Amino acid sequence: MTAFETKDYSKLIGMAGFSETLLKNHFTLYQGYVTNTNTIADTLARMRKETKGATPEFSELKRRYGWEFNGMRLHECYFENLGGKTPINPESKLAAQIHKEFGSYDEWALDFKATGAMRGIGWAILYQDLVTGRLQNVWINEHDVGHPACCLPILVMDVFEHAFLTDYGLKRADYISAFFQNINWQAAEARLKVS
Ligand SMILES: [Fe+2]
Repeated sequence: MTAFETKDYSKLIGMAGFSETLLKNHFTLYQGYVTNTNTIADTLARMRKETKGATPEFSELKRRYGWEFNGMRLHECYFENLGGKTPINPESKLAAQIHKEFGSYDEWALDFKATGAMRGIGWAILYQDLVTGRLQNVWINEHDVGHPACCLPILVMDVFEHAFLTDYGLKRADYISAFFQNINWQAAEARLKVS
């Protein structure tokens, strides 16, 4: 089985509002998800060959896989939608869809920031529903729970404490402001599947 490879996001170092220490620690944490995803996939493949599919160990690893895989993939989405230097282009397809769904960019941003500022650790994610094409801001508590079915992450914001504590302490709102100043809107828009 082909292993997932760790992607290099070191080009984000130097981004305003994110220290090198914070980013490097976050990259290391992300690498852990990639490693664990591969380890679990290999172990499950071996257990299948050994006809151990009906064991509690197989079940628990199957459950764990969603946590590790989503931890890997959501971090990739997060890092890839950072590093931008310009605000959203009001003429862009994504801006038009945000406007259609939320009334204005500001209304959308208010909702997305409020979602990210909720108590608890998790993710704020702007999804596109692939069935209707509509956009929605969703809170994800744990990597493996609560993802809306048939929806694609368009913009992902990590609000686990490791994403901001080093630089901002408990001032999560300041971190969210820094995140907004660095959104790579082109990367987010490229994820849209339904126009
Ligand atoms: Fe994270």
